[in-house]
Formats: sequence, structure tokens, C-alpha cells
Amino acid sequence: MNASLPLSSELSTGWPDGERPAIALVGAGRVAQALAIALERCGVAVAAIGSRRSALGPGWPESCPQPICPQAAVDAAALVLLTVPDDHIAACAEALHWRPGQAVVHCSGATEVAALAGAARAGAATGGFHPLQIFSDPLRAADRLAGSTVAIEAEAGSALERTLQTLARVLGLRPIVLPPGMRARYHVAAGYAASFLLPVLAEAAGLWKTFGVDEAEALAALLPLARGTLDAVEGRGLAGAVSGPIARGDDGVVGAHLAALAAIGPAAGDFYRRLARPQVALAHEAGRLDAAAVARLRARLE
Ligand SMILES: NC(=O)c1ccc[n+]([C@@H]2O[C@H](COP(=O)([O-])OP(=O)(O)OC[C@H]3O[C@@H](n4cnc5c(N)ncnc54)[C@H](OP(=O)(O)O)[C@@H]3O)[C@@H](O)[C@H]2O)c1
Repeated sequence: MNASLPLSSELSTGWPDGERPAIALVGAGRVAQALAIALERCGVAVAAIGSRRSALGPGWPESCPQPICPQAAVDAAALVLLTVPDDHIAACAEALHWRPGQAVVHCSGATEVAALAGAARAGAATGGFHPLQIFSDPLRAADRLAGSTVAIEAEAGSALERTLQTLARVLGLRPIVLPPGMRARYHVAAGYAASFLLPVLAEAAGLWKTFGVDEAEALAALLPLARGTLDAVEGRGLAGAVSGPIARGDDGVVGAHLAALAAIGPAAGDFYRRLARPQVALAHEAGRLDAAAVARLRARLE
């Protein structure tokens, strides 16, 4: 779409049956790169990339236009995806000039849409489009986008909501709608399923290091186990996937674990207890443990 078309019609075409809005990415970081790759694969060329840099780094699609200043990218687009760090979303929305009929969304999970107040005051529609995926490696993230979930926040029934739902569909993302005020809670949960897995793996690798296995070797051995667990969750749900001595009610093995960890230090045992207690609840929910086994394990884990 030509961004100079009558502004009020830019989004009201409702992309599903009309013309796709010109899309700009502002902030050429990891999320922007992954979205650009994924969009290109879906046959959607990004109209403009707003950046403080003069050239894109390696890994960007060849079809992507060279970066221009953020304001020029905003001017060229009907839909702007603001992909800057959370702490700079509000300042960018204030500093850039927006126009009525235009739409801007940020891609953050944690930041409220109210951070885009500067754009809303200028008459732009504002919203959120948070892809629930890890973007540390943009190419891999682009590979994983299809089938991932995206949290959409936009005024119910608005042209922007329809556009974001369509964008999600084009990218193969499963849209969910975020209720107002739940962003921080939603984002904590997303963190638990992502980076919060790392301390568990770090603890495991650290234990193996105490008997001479380095991190690479430990991860080569432990990651298939982790993937197997995630596959089991997918197939059987959380309670159905629980396994190991706690699920079996093997109190003696749990005692041996705690004794081994006590030799390392109190923090190692505390970490184990903190993660073991919810497993007891899951195993009980799955019908693997009777009340007596639950009581025995809980006492052991006190
Ligand atoms: N990383 C993830 O796993 C992930 C997942 C989902 C959502 N998100 C969200 O997506 C957004 C972008 O995250 P990201 O991981 O892509 O961040 P990133 O890789 O750090 O990229 C952010 C980009 O914003 C621009 N930028 C940096 N500082 C700026 C400033 N002070 N003012 C204006 N622009 C600035 C830079 O682009 P230029 O150099 O081109 O200006 C930078 O490359 C965040 O809101 C984040 O919460 C991230």
C-alpha cells in the first residue's frame, strides 16, 4: 500500500479482503530481523526499516530495504512495529511524529500499550504484538515462529485488531488476546517457560562439573532428557509427564539426593527442595502418589 493514500483508509481496508498495509520495523535488532526473515518467507516485503544504523548486519533478507532514519520509516508505513528495547518504547513513541489513521504496535511482552501514549495522542491506533518465542538467534527464531503464539492487544473490533490478527495468520502465529492489566503476570509466566529453565540446567551442569564433566558434555547428555520431558508435557500434560523418584514415591532415593547435595552446601539442597515440592503435587494430581506417600515425601523435603 502506498503510505500516501488517504490515511483513514489505510487500516480500514481490513487486510483480509483488502490491501496489506505498508509495514515498517523501527529498531533493527533481533526481533526485527526475525520478523523480517519470516515476513519475507511469507511473501510480505517490509516497506521500511527504521534504524540509527546506516546498514543492516549479516543475516537480513536481501529483499529488505536499506535502513533509513526512524522518522522516515514511520512516514513510509501504515503499520509500524516498534522493536526497540522496552525502556525506550515510550521515548520513541514520544519522539517520533505520527499521523491519524496510522497504527503502531510494540513487540514487548512486559510493557503496557500505554507506553505508546505519544503516538495515541497524535491519533495513531496503538497496540501490542508480542511473539512468544526466543529471539537470541534471529534465524532460528524465524524458523520457529510458525506455530508459536503471539499475544495481541488492540481495541476490540478495531481495524488494528483485524490487521494484527491477519498478520499473525500470515506468519503462522497462534493469536491470543491479552486482557488489560495482565501483562506483567503473562510475561512472568513466559519467562518461566523460557529463561527460567536455564538456572535448572545450569545447576545440573554445575553438579556434573564437580565430577569432571564439562558444560558442553553435560548439555549434550542432559538436553535430550529435557527435550523428552517437554515432549511428554506436550503429549500428556504437566501431571502426566512427571517422572523420576518423586513421581514413584521413592523416598529413599530422595533422601540420598539430599545427602549428596548437603555435602556440596546448603544452597544446593534448598534449590532441590524448592523444585521437588511442586513435583510432589503434580505426581499426586496424576494419581501416582497416595496420601501417605505425599506426606512422607513432604516431610523429607521440609
Ligand atoms: N529477545 C527476545 O527474545 C524477545 C522476545 C519477544 C519480544 N521481545 C521484545 O522485542 C523488543 C525488541 O527486543 P530485541 O530482543 O529485538 O532487542 P535488541 O536486539 O536489543 O534490538 C533492539 C533495537 O532497538 C534499537 N535501539 C536500541 N537502543 C535504542 C534506543 N535507546 N533508542 C532507540 N532505539 C534503540 C536498536 O536498533 P537500531 O540500532 O537499528 O536503532 C536495537 O538493535 C523488546 O520490546 C522486547 O521485549 C524480545
